[in-house]
This record gives sequence, structure tokens and C-alpha cells, in this order.
Amino acid sequence: MKETVLNKFKEVFGDTEGAKVFFAPGRVNLIGEHTDYNGGHVFPCALTIGTYGVARVRLDRKLRFFSMNFEHLGVIESSLDDLKPEKEAGWTNYPKGVMWAFGEKGFKVPSGLDILLNGNIPNGSGLSSSASVEVLTGFILREFFGFEVSNQDLALIGQFSENNYNGVNCGIMDQFAIAMGKKDHAIFLDTADLSFEYAPVKLENAKLVIACSNKKRGLGDSKYNERRSECEAALAKLQKVVDIKGLGDLSEEQFEEHKSVIGDLVKERRARHAVYENQRTIKAVAALKANDITQFGRLMNESHVSLRDDYEVTGAELDTLVEEAWKVEGVIGSRMTGAGFGGCTVSLVKDEAIDTFIKQVGEAYRKKIGYQADFYVVEIGDGPCIL
Ligand code: GLA
Repeated sequence: MKETVLNKFKEVFGDTEGAKVFFAPGRVNLIGEHTDYNGGHVFPCALTIGTYGVARVRLDRKLRFFSMNFEHLGVIESSLDDLKPEKEAGWTNYPKGVMWAFGEKGFKVPSGLDILLNGNIPNGSGLSSSASVEVLTGFILREFFGFEVSNQDLALIGQFSENNYNGVNCGIMDQFAIAMGKKDHAIFLDTADLSFEYAPVKLENAKLVIACSNKKRGLGDSKYNERRSECEAALAKLQKVVDIKGLGDLSEEQFEEHKSVIGDLVKERRARHAVYENQRTIKAVAALKANDITQFGRLMNESHVSLRDDYEVTGAELDTLVEEAWKVEGVIGSRMTGAGFGGCTVSLVKDEAIDTFIKQVGEAYRKKIGYQADFYVVEIGDGPCIL
């Protein structure tokens, strides 16, 4: 891949003088969905697929971008003096947003850059291709300009840029999982205070299989923000009767005791998901540590049911993928992953069942939904690096 991106950089920008090659992973969340903006726990991991980038510093303030995933757009030019979201600029809003965010945090980017990207995460799949580009950009800026920021800061700046430059009110999970990724480990992160722990994911005779629904996301972002405000409204009501900072502070019992104060059945279901999913995540990590993979899988399945019925972020495509997966012998657990409304599912599948899984779930999906799903057997990888 290094050679491919360097060759393309040379073709697009003339030569590779001063250029360096970088990589930032994508991520998949194993359990703990829609908990990260509710002060709950998440359990994601970085993947070995992600975004490759070639970058070099310019002498002027110009920014030139090229993506091998959107070749038809050609070279997109901008300037450090003109960092504002532009609809026509599409994907460049992610790297530009991060440059803007560095400036807001007191790290002014001193000179322009030529940047070429090539991602092997399926686009819009819910494996965080955008957070991968954000963390990659931050990593590039730190490398070239020596900004004193940690990998955790790269995650926070990425999230800040997505919230304030791109208008998506996302939590910290994606950027954190990518910036802090560790091979063969998932990250048990408490989003209330960012304390975290690496938990080894030793899958004997099983693998993580991602099924991409290929459903175009469309309304996803606005629905995402809607769920977020439903949770905030429920929290505000609960805070009148219990002293909590987020829904993640509640146990299941406390929630059942106080839920009537929410006064709206839809918001009550959203909050129930947030509370129970957080507790499920804590239990799932305990199960994994105890080597009880069957229990881990069961909790993954329960997570999907809750996202389907209480949080309502699945839809026919993700439900079909998961419900068909549950029918296959050798599937330990299966659930939607990421924001939902399209995107991917993640399944724990025994080695000997993987071929059947892909065939059976793939056929049923095509029959019911009318188009194809794509399958990826993935591995857990490290965070960003220079190649
Ligand atoms: C998206 C957001 C994350 C998180 C998930 C849902 O991926 O970017 O912050 O909220 O959805 O768990």
C-alpha cells in the first residue's frame, strides 16, 4: 500500500520530495452503543483496515487534497486562511475541520500541506472512516509541526472538529478507539471521565466478521442528533429526582424506580436503552475477562434487541443481517455496530462456520432486501503510525 499511495502522490502532485506516509485505523464497537454521549461505557477496537495518507509541508498557506476514494473530484484546493465548512468540498471538511480545531486549541497550523488519502474501510459503512481521517490529520500535524499533544488529545480534537466544524454531535468513542488502538485488544472506556483499560480479545477458534449492509445512510446524522436530544430530555427529568451527571450513572434498579418521572414513553425507552446498554457493556467485559465468550455473545444479541426495539436505530437491513446471523450454527453473537440507520453488523463467528455464515446470511439478505451485503473477516490492530 505504501508504494501505491506514494506513486499516486507523485502522479498527482509532481514528486514525493519531503513526503511521509501515515496510517490510521477504522474501528468497530463490540458492545456499548449510543452510550458514549450518555456518560456510559463503550468497548470498541481499532481495525487493521483504515486510511493511508501521504503528506508534505508546503512553503505557502495553500492546502491541496486528493482522495483515491473520490478520484473523480480531482485535486481540491483550499487555504489555511479559509477554513470554513463548504458543502461542495465534501470529504475535505474532515481534514480541514481538524486543522481549524488545532487552531482553536491554540496550535495554529503554520504552513500549508499537500495531502493524499486512500482508505480501505468501506465508505459510509459505520466503521468510522471519518474519524479515521480526523485522527490521521491530527497525527500528520503533530508529526510535521511538533505540536505537544497526546494521542488522547488527537481523539478529543477530532471529536471537537466533528461537533463544531461538521455539525455532527458525536461522542468520543470513534476517535478514541482509533487514536488509542492496540493490537488484539479492545478498549473498555468510561466516557464519563475517559478512564480506560485495554482488554485482550483472545478468540480461540472464532473471528470477528463484519457485514456491511450497503444501505445509504442519508438521514442518519439528523436522527443521531435527535436520539441525543431525547436522551438529554430524559436525563433532565431524572435529575429532578436523582443526583446524576449522565444516564450512565444509573443502575437498572434505579432506572426502574424513577423512570415514571420522564413522562414520555418514547423518551423513557431511549433512556432505558442507554442505562441497560451501559450495564450490559460492564457485564460483557467481565464475561470476556472470565473467558465466557458464550455470555459475551448473548449480551451482544441483547444489545441488538435493545437498539432495535427501544432505541429504534436499526431498520430492515441491519435487522435482517443480525436475525439471519442468529440462525447460523456457530454464531456466538451478532449485533449492529456504530450509529445504526444502515452501516454494519459485527458478529463473533466460529472458524468452521464462517463460510456458511457469509453464504447463508448473504443469500437471505439479497433475497429480502434486494441488493448485496459485503462481508469482512477483520483483525484488531494498532492506532495511528508512520509507515
Ligand atoms: C457514532 C458516533 C459515536 C457513537 C456511536 C453510537 O459512531 O460517532 O460517538 O455515539 O455512533 O454508539
